[in-house]
Amino acid sequence: MADRIPLMAGNWKMNLNHVEATGVVQKLAWTLSDKRYDKAKAEAAVIVPFTDLRTVQTLVEGDKLPIAYGAQDVSVHASGAYTGEVSADMLAKLKCAYVVVGHSERREYHGESDEIVNDKAKVVLAAGMTPIICVGEKLEIRKEGRQVPFVLDQVQKVLADLTPEQVAKLVIAYEPVWAIGTGEVATPEDAQEVCGAIRRYIAEELQGADAAAGCRIQYGGSVKSSNIVDIMAQADVDGALVGGASLDPEEFAKIVLFY
Ligand code: G3P
Repeated sequence: MADRIPLMAGNWKMNLNHVEATGVVQKLAWTLSDKRYDKAKAEAAVIVPFTDLRTVQTLVEGDKLPIAYGAQDVSVHASGAYTGEVSADMLAKLKCAYVVVGHSERREYHGESDEIVNDKAKVVLAAGMTPIICVGEKLEIRKEGRQVPFVLDQVQKVLADLTPEQVAKLVIAYEPVWAIGTGEVATPEDAQEVCGAIRRYIAEELQGADAAAGCRIQYGGSVKSSNIVDIMAQADVDGALVGGASLDPEEFAKIVLFY
């Protein structure tokens, strides 16, 4: 797997207020340090609601705890009259390492297109953070066997105009929509089929071999401690974007410690 350090990111979605976040992050850090957590083998991150960011920053800053953190969305705008939006500079000021863009729930409930996701990835990169760019097919596409061309079309659009250097640093999360929160997990071979196709496509058709070798490609969708080892055994899977199971710090720690 080249020398890509797997990224195990817990996407809390709209769960855990800032008081609850304190307990979960402390328990996660305690569980990781009590075991054999090695940052060279896997990076742990929590992707939290905007209202939790300052609290998590206070807990983690100065490397007090070995956990990275980030936000679940960002505005494409820099500042101004955009009520309810949060800018990339605001997130960078809170020292977010990561920002998820294009999650299927944003696409489904907020009408985000690949073009908007591309714009969001660009503002995140411009602010010095790492986007985790989500792609993935719905069930009907999978049933028709069109998952690879469908996802590659998304990848082409969400990575449009990015440089090889930018792509080498970012994270792509392959999350088949039918496997999110359903308990229905893609097989490790399903995950590898699409993650491998994404990497080959970037190498051969988009930003080239170095970009493809550098960028981390996660799998997401009903990841648990019981299936993470087989998923991580796949050559092109460089981590996981974990929803429900990341709300339980002991379970999430087991996922981080998959190695
Ligand atoms: O972003 C993570 C995600 O959508 C997967 O959620 O609950 O199936 O692990 P879950």
